[in-house]
Amino acid sequence: MKKTIFITGVSSGFGKATLIELAKQDHFIFAGLRGGKDRFENCYSQELSNELFKSKYKEGKIIPIDLHLEDQQSIKNAILQISDSNFPPLEVLINNAGYGSLRPVECQSFELIKNQTQVNFLGPFQLIYECLPLLRKTHGKIINISSIAGLTTFPFYGPYSASKHALDAMTESLFYELKKFNISVSLIEPGGFATEFVKKSMDNTQMTDRLSLYESEISKFDEMLESKKTHFFLGKPEKITNLIIKIIYKKNTKLRYLVGIDAWCLYCLKKVLPDSLRTWGVYHFFQKMVFRNSLHHTKSSRI
Ligand SMILES: NC(=O)c1ccc[n+]([C@@H]2O[C@H](COP(=O)([O-])OP(=O)(O)OC[C@H]3O[C@@H](n4cnc5c(N)ncnc54)[C@H](OP(=O)(O)O)[C@@H]3O)[C@@H](O)[C@H]2O)c1
Repeated sequence: MKKTIFITGVSSGFGKATLIELAKQDHFIFAGLRGGKDRFENCYSQELSNELFKSKYKEGKIIPIDLHLEDQQSIKNAILQISDSNFPPLEVLINNAGYGSLRPVECQSFELIKNQTQVNFLGPFQLIYECLPLLRKTHGKIINISSIAGLTTFPFYGPYSASKHALDAMTESLFYELKKFNISVSLIEPGGFATEFVKKSMDNTQMTDRLSLYESEISKFDEMLESKKTHFFLGKPEKITNLIIKIIYKKNTKLRYLVGIDAWCLYCLKKVLPDSLRTWGVYHFFQKMVFRNSLHHTKSSRI
């Protein structure tokens, strides 16, 4: 039952939690992260002081691979490394790495939106394309980590949501197309989870000069993301790890797995409510949380 698994974005969050569990279960792991071996040893310094984890690493059952999803050559090199290794043939590809450029659309440069699309959509697409000849031989599995933002959207989520919608749509097509090769394809659509996602996403986001138009909303939006109330509702990454493990072992898998009460609520609202009512709800929620003072300001300045 030991499988060869390639997972991206293992430096933190879902990727790291999943890698640790996969290592416990003695799988062969290709671990994609920016910075390769040195960064891996840095990110896993605590785990490497655990004898069991250390022995798996020293035996070569975990191979760190330097992977930059916005760089096509880096993806090609990663696949070469996988094809040339002594591991058993690849059985599972987990496209986990990603980030969110969570800012008003107008504040984002063309370069930023291009990067968002490359990392969350084109990079995973190229990885799937390059891995398919390997997965065809093993009747393997593809697991793409999307987001509830791949099924619905909100203010400040435009480019992130667009990249996840694209990933979602492509994955659904592959789900049908690859059945004849006995390759299973699944999407995980998490709601909010306690990882490095918000912090790292903000580090990735440089703003254009239109920022001043939305300054107060951005600071309220950031406050909302970082508030204790929001953190209270975030799920534990292990929930996603357990689901990934379940999908790896399961014979018959579904296309979509929604995870988290927030994801389910937002999905049901999208399915059940007429669009006008849903958009009214989203708008009023954000008006209360983010836009309130600025709308008031706009009104009074018009008067
Ligand atoms: N946490 C949530 O609430 C949530 C909700 C829905 C969906 N998701 C999705 O879940 C996935 C994992 O995110 P997470 O929550 O675990 O966040 P995380 O802790 O920030 O992990 C994201 C991983 O993606 C990697 N990454 C980012 N840009 C990359 C690039 N250009 N090339 C290669 N790797 C890159 C990061 O590496 P570096 O350390 O090098 O930046 C990191 O390892 C993402 O696809 C995210 O969109 C998360």
